Amino acid sequence: MDDFDASRAAARMRDAESSLTGLRERFSVPEDAVYMDGNSLGVHGQDAAHALERALDQWRELGIEGWTEADPPWFEYGERLGDRLADVVGAKPAECVAANSTTVNIHALVGTFIDAADGTEVVVNELDFPTDHYAIRSQLRARGLDPDDHLVVVESDDGRTIEPDAIADAVSDDTAIVFMPSVLYRSGQLLDVEAITDIAHDHDAFAGFDLAHSVGVVDHDLHFDGVDFAVWCSYKYLNAGPGAIGGLYVREEHFDLPPAMAGWWGNADDTQFDLEPEFDPARGAAAFQIGTVSVFAAAPLFGSLDVTEAAGVDSLCERSVALTRYLISLVDERLPECAVGTPREADRRGGHVAVEHPDAGKLSRALRDRGVVVDFRPPNVVRVAPSPYFVGFEDVWLAVDEIRDILDADAHLAYGESEEQVT
Ligand SMILES: Cc1ncc(COP(=O)(O)O)c(C=O)c1O
Repeated sequence: MDDFDASRAAARMRDAESSLTGLRERFSVPEDAVYMDGNSLGVHGQDAAHALERALDQWRELGIEGWTEADPPWFEYGERLGDRLADVVGAKPAECVAANSTTVNIHALVGTFIDAADGTEVVVNELDFPTDHYAIRSQLRARGLDPDDHLVVVESDDGRTIEPDAIADAVSDDTAIVFMPSVLYRSGQLLDVEAITDIAHDHDAFAGFDLAHSVGVVDHDLHFDGVDFAVWCSYKYLNAGPGAIGGLYVREEHFDLPPAMAGWWGNADDTQFDLEPEFDPARGAAAFQIGTVSVFAAAPLFGSLDVTEAAGVDSLCERSVALTRYLISLVDERLPECAVGTPREADRRGGHVAVEHPDAGKLSRALRDRGVVVDFRPPNVVRVAPSPYFVGFEDVWLAVDEIRDILDADAHLAYGESEEQVT
């Protein structure tokens, strides 16, 4: 980029011009820190905290009456949040519910859709976050299907990305489900959800997605794209806090499928307290809830969704693309010893950038010690996530400048072999 201005002043100017900069005031970004880890855990925000405090107050004031008298009633948390999450992922209200965790939702929905499919294989890829494979393998085993034969793992050509053609080659008439991430957790590649869904449907298979690294930062249109089911967490870009409740989507034409992991919280509301031995599933994604909603893991999401809605997912996505583009340009300009492991096309990028360096582990630790919060993904990736909610262009500049300083001084070499960080 010939006219790229890599100065700090230019970064400041872009922050001053940005309409979303005021969003940051709603978050408690640690002082003197450049927090580039919103793709692992969003920072504490006042909206999420107030919503949680409100739920605690209502517990104190109402006791058990809170299930029906709290505002909103705890009993309805899953569906109420689901209605709002539907707007975030491009679905109809009844197609979404807040429930469980991502991993539990993978168990619940992959199990359900294998049971409904003609085929017996699940197609995944070798760059997936491992919990997806653990859950799917155990669902296959539970059905007497040997995972070594029935889990089809698409390979990557470059160790960073997965190409749609490779997915198409792996899908056959034996496929039950194509289950892919929207964004790869290491490289940040954004996969083409609509194209993958079409590939699955061409073989009468179902298309399911793990949206952990895209919900709240990528403008999804799950219903329009024909996606059959999806799962996600709300502690990353949705900023609902550590261990916050997960979410799921089930396309309306599948509302009649019997949940593979049924529980009383998925029962229809009007008969739930009849406590009959026979399960009477709710009509909609709500049927895939399992046990009592975790009220305090769900309450913050009411507040953090206020922020997402106020900004608009389309604007957040646009800002995310601008921030990652800026980050990639700065890496190209100032860090010749690093490679960018993330696709450069805006429509193939999620919210984070993989900055590759042979000493990525040491570099990540040196950065954290200097207040630049990033994480390391072995063997060579520093993940840098300029969350559009609370990160500005000057923060991106500061992060890259700190990497430059560390590399110039060989300061990272003072660190021993690093361990993987649990984030
Ligand atoms: C793609 C993906 N799926 C799932 C998870 C974790 O799932 P859970 O919320 O159940 O721990 C992660 C965690 O970072 C992830 O990156």
